[in-house]
Amino acid sequence: MENQQIEELLKQMTMDEKIGQLLQLTPPFFKGSSEHGKITGPLAQLKISDDIVKNTGSVLGASGAKEIRSIQEQHLKDNRLGIPLLFMADITHGYETIFPIPLAIGCSWDLNLAQKSAEIAAKEGAVSGTHVTFAPMVDLVRDPRWGRVMESTGEDSYLNSEFAKAQVKGFQGEDLKNDPNRLATCVKHFAAYGAPEGGRDYNTVNMSERQLRESYLPAYRAALDAGSKLVMTAFNTVDGIPATGNKKLMRDLLRDEWGFDGVVISDWGAVKELIPHGVAEDEREAAYKAIQAGVDIEMMTTCYPNHLKELIESGHVAEELLNEAALRILQLKNELGLFENPYRGLDEVQEKEVILSEEHREATRELASKSCVLLQNNYNILPINPSQKIALIGPFAESNDILGPWSWKGDKNAAITLRKGLEEKLGNNRLIVKKGCEIESITDEQLNHAMTAAEQADVIILALGEHSDMSGEAGSRSNIKLPDSQLKLVEKVHGLGKPTITVLFNGRPLDLHGVYDKTDAILEAWFPGTEGGRAITDILYGDVNPSGKLSMSFPYSVGQVPVYYNHYNTGRPQGAEDAQVRYVSQYLDIPNEALFPFGYGLSYTTFSYQNMKLSTDTITPDDKLEVSITVKNTGNIAGEETVQLYVRDLVGEVVRPVKELKGFEKIHLEPGEEKNVTFEITEEQLRYYHSDLSFESDEGTFEVYVGPNSCDVQSLPFRLIK
Ligand code: BGC
Repeated sequence: MENQQIEELLKQMTMDEKIGQLLQLTPPFFKGSSEHGKITGPLAQLKISDDIVKNTGSVLGASGAKEIRSIQEQHLKDNRLGIPLLFMADITHGYETIFPIPLAIGCSWDLNLAQKSAEIAAKEGAVSGTHVTFAPMVDLVRDPRWGRVMESTGEDSYLNSEFAKAQVKGFQGEDLKNDPNRLATCVKHFAAYGAPEGGRDYNTVNMSERQLRESYLPAYRAALDAGSKLVMTAFNTVDGIPATGNKKLMRDLLRDEWGFDGVVISDWGAVKELIPHGVAEDEREAAYKAIQAGVDIEMMTTCYPNHLKELIESGHVAEELLNEAALRILQLKNELGLFENPYRGLDEVQEKEVILSEEHREATRELASKSCVLLQNNYNILPINPSQKIALIGPFAESNDILGPWSWKGDKNAAITLRKGLEEKLGNNRLIVKKGCEIESITDEQLNHAMTAAEQADVIILALGEHSDMSGEAGSRSNIKLPDSQLKLVEKVHGLGKPTITVLFNGRPLDLHGVYDKTDAILEAWFPGTEGGRAITDILYGDVNPSGKLSMSFPYSVGQVPVYYNHYNTGRPQGAEDAQVRYVSQYLDIPNEALFPFGYGLSYTTFSYQNMKLSTDTITPDDKLEVSITVKNTGNIAGEETVQLYVRDLVGEVVRPVKELKGFEKIHLEPGEEKNVTFEITEEQLRYYHSDLSFESDEGTFEVYVGPNSCDVQSLPFRLIK
C-alpha cells in the first residue's frame, strides 16, 4: 500500500479499533489458535473479551506455519477492516537450528558469522510465519550474577555495537517487503537493562546520564542506525523512572533526539508494572504514563484497552498520540507487505525443508567452534591425540541441555551431545562415559563409577557446567562458582594426577577456582547450540584451532563484581610508582584483576606481535593516524588471531577509562606466516561525553595499545592537536 492509503485506513478506524492495534496477546486468546481458550493463571485475570481480541494488533510467541496461518485466517474474518495481525517472537540465537548463545557469539568476534546466524534464524522463523523478532538484545553487561548476560554480546560498547549492526543486517536484510525470508528486528531492552543493582534481575538501575550515554546507549543506537524497526522498553528504572513510563528517555531522547520513527513496544507486562514500581496509582495512570512516554504496543497487559479511550475522551490524553501510535504499527505492517500478503513468508513445504537443514547445521557448527574460548592449556595437553583412551565424565557428558535459554523452538533431541560428537570421531572402543554427578548433587556410587572410568583412561574430559535454568531471564545467582557436587568431582579426579581437560557448558562467566587450579585445560564452550558436541570435538582433536576471545571478563571471585577491563584508574591505583603498600585501591585478599580478562583466549599455535609503529605522533581533526603491527604465526599449525586495538585518553575533562576498544581485525595465518595489520585512528574516535554532555575530543596525549587481549598489549603515545 502507499503511505497515503495507510493514512486513509486509519481514518476509517474507530477509536476502539485503533486502541486494539496497540495491544499484543499470546495465541490462546485467538480463535484460530490450537491453544485457543487455554487461558490460565495471571492471563485469566486480564479478562479479555472477544471484542478486544478481534481488534488486537499483534501476537506474541505463536509458531509454525500451520498455526500462524490459522490464526491469521480467522482474524481476517473477525476484524471489521481486515487488518492483518503482526506475529512477533523471541528468535534470538536461532529458531529451530540453535546457534550458540549470544555471549558465546560475542566471543567469536566474527561479525560475518554473527550476521549469517541471524539470517538463518530469520529464514527459519519467516517460513514458519513470524514477522518480527525480539532481537537483538544489546544490553551492555558487567555483572555475571545477572543471568541475562548470556543474551548479550558482552561488556564492551564498541564490540556490542558492531554485533548489533551485524545482527540487524542478518535478520532484516535490505528490503523487508520484497524479501519474505527476513524478520523485522526489535532492539532491546531500552535502556540499560544490563546494569541491575547486585546483578538481580528486574532490579533498579542507577547511573548518571553521562555514563548511560557513554557506555550503555551506543549499541542501541547502532542497531537503530542499522535500521532496526522496533525498540523494546526495559523493565528497569532509568534515573528513577521506569523506562516504560519514561518520557525523557522514550520521547525526548529516542524519538526527538535520535529521530526514531519506528514502533516502541513495552516489555512483557511492563506497562502495568508502573504500579508496583510506584509511579502509577492504577492501570489508568499506567496507561497515561506509557502513552505519554511514547509506548506504542502494550505487551500482555490491558491498561490501554481498558483506559485509553476514557483518557482521550476526558481530554487527559491527546487523540493525536493514539493516532500516531496506531499509524506506526500500521506502517510496520505495510513495510512487511502484510496488506498485500497477510501470510508473508510462511510456507509449510519450505518449513520442512529449511529448518535444521544440513546447511544450517553446518553454519551453527562453525560458529559454535569459533565461539569456544580456550582458557587454559597447560603442557599443551590439547589437542588430544586420537589414539588415546578417553574417560568422558560429568553431568554434561551426554546432556542435550546445550541449547541454552531463549531457544524455545529448539529441539533438544536434535542436539548433538558431547558424547555423540566424540563417538563419531573415536567410535566406542576408546571412550568410556560416566556421569560422575548431577549438576547440583552427587552420590558415592556416581563418584566411584567415575573414578573407575578415570583410572582406565589416558585422558579425562570433564563436561561440567550450569543447567540452562541457572542463567537466562530471572536466572540471577549470588554464587557463580560451579555447584559443590561438580567441584567435588573435579577434586577427586585431580587426585589421580592424570591429564584432565574441562569443557564448560554455561551461560555466564564463572569463578573458576576449584577448576582452573585442578585441571590442565579449560575449554569454555558456553551453551553451544544444536551442533555443540561436534563443534567441541572439532576443537578437542585439533580439527579446528580455537580462536574465541572473551567478550566478558571472568572474575577472580564474585567479590570483585563488577569487574571489567575499561574501568577507571582511581586516584590511588595499585602498582603506581609512588603507591603505598596499603592505602591504594585494592582488596586485601584477592587481586584487582579478572582471572581471565576481556579479549583473552588461547590458540593451539602462538603469535608474536612486533614492530608496532604509528604513522605520526600527532593528529589533528583533519587527518588520521595509522597504527601498524606485524603479527606472525610462530607455531606449527595454522591459526586465527583477533588483533585488538585499544586507546586511552590520558587526561580528560572527566575521567577516561584505562583502555577502550577502538578496533579489531581477525586474521588467518599459516605456520611461519606474518601479516602487517593496520588500524586507523581519527579524531572522531577520540570523542567522549563531557560533564555538560557535549560529545567532543580534548587536545592532549593518548596512548594506543595493540595486542591479543586487553592485558597483554604494546603501546605508543600520540598527541591530538586541535
Ligand atoms: C523479556 C523479553 C522478551 C519478552 C517476550 C520478556 O520477559 O524480558 O526479552 O522479548 O519477554 O517474550
